[in-house]
Amino acid sequence: QTGMFTYDPGFTSTASCESSLTYIDGEEGILLHRGYPIGQLAEHSSFMEVSYLMLNGELPNSQELDEFSRTITRHTMLHEQLATFYRGFRRDAHPMAIMCGVVGALSAFYHDSTDISDPHHRKVSSHRLIAKMPTIAAMAYKYSVGQPFLYPDNSLSYTANFLRMTFGVPAEPYEVHPAVERAMDRIFILHADHEQNASTSTVRLAGSSGANPFACIAAGIACLWGPAHGGANEAALNMLREIGTPDRIKHYIERAKDKNDPFRLMGFGHRVYKNYDPRATVMQKTVREVFEALKVTDPVFETALQLEEIALNDDYFHEKKLFPNVDFYSGIILSAMGFPTTMFTALFALARTVGWVAQWNEMISDPGQKIGRPRQLYTGPTERDYIPIEKR
Ligand code: SDX
Repeated sequence: QTGMFTYDPGFTSTASCESSLTYIDGEEGILLHRGYPIGQLAEHSSFMEVSYLMLNGELPNSQELDEFSRTITRHTMLHEQLATFYRGFRRDAHPMAIMCGVVGALSAFYHDSTDISDPHHRKVSSHRLIAKMPTIAAMAYKYSVGQPFLYPDNSLSYTANFLRMTFGVPAEPYEVHPAVERAMDRIFILHADHEQNASTSTVRLAGSSGANPFACIAAGIACLWGPAHGGANEAALNMLREIGTPDRIKHYIERAKDKNDPFRLMGFGHRVYKNYDPRATVMQKTVREVFEALKVTDPVFETALQLEEIALNDDYFHEKKLFPNVDFYSGIILSAMGFPTTMFTALFALARTVGWVAQWNEMISDPGQKIGRPRQLYTGPTERDYIPIEKR
């Protein structure tokens, strides 16, 4: 029994760590960050405010938030030599390949904040990672479309700065659409942290060896890329586009139920949620808001809504407790904003950096933490003697 939550004994036996950052009740579809429900944070907060909350444990007052935002803003520029690093990639490199490479390389440029035994170093590298991810992601996009990089404009908000670096060009002024900025910021909030998911556990395991934070976050990015995890947002929109019209939904639902068919409904199901992912609820609402603000639509949204309706009324999905997750609707919004599908997981990584950094700090600041060392159930042969090759 800790605070208001009672652990089920089975759960604690599988828990990989203790954490005060994020609480998920998969059966009830509850997600809290430092006790605040994700729906309230998405509605009333900002990504900078949620970042402060994750790192410090409490919501900031206005002075604390201004100071934090200014600190992050000061770190938005990248070492100029890193721009050259991008030129080593092929133009058609997947943005996640670039993100893995560039973030992993950061420790070669910012080694003045890699002494993890020094709390000041930990703070600076945390701020650098949160601040530079939008610049790195925007540059990955620019490189893929052959447009020049734009430097950060620190007079803009964190999210507006990212949108301008991504969609602006030196040849003309770029105005960030307020509704797009609001929706982007909300999407960042929805992706900020999610307890001990695969990529966060990767960051913690890498960090437990004492690896520098830049290397740990690069490991998290690599893990997030998988289609079963953060890569699902790209896969979900590609799936919805492949399904095309609602009359083809039934065929894909049957394929998803067929054990002999590797096809899975992307954006559906979750290791923990056995109820509706509360982030998907906000995402669906945000699709409507962005469509209305931009006066656009996308027939894929109607297909997604009908697919959800059919799946949620299907016995297979009902018995297996499969619901839409955070990735089911996010791609529709991102596509309406102008992002190519290849950038979707890079945006997830940008936002999740706050959670990874907060979880890394929580782990590394624990004086009792030891190197992670998962064990195994051995299923190989019992001991036996070597056989010389001439006798094989
Ligand atoms: C994220 O962990 C996190 O918190 C992750 C995340 C985060 O914020 O960090 O929330 C982000 O990764 C969300 C998940 C994104 N992935 C997808 O949308 C890919 C599609 N989903 C599936 O691949 C799947 O649902 C997983 C990988 C997410 C979970 O797979 P599991 O562990 O097998 O899920 P399960 O144990 O609940 O599955 C129960 C059954 C299984 O069948 P049986 O073995 O019982 O016969 O349902 C089946 C699964 O095969 N199933 C699906 C399905 N998901 C699970 N069948 C069809 N379509 C699906 N999408």
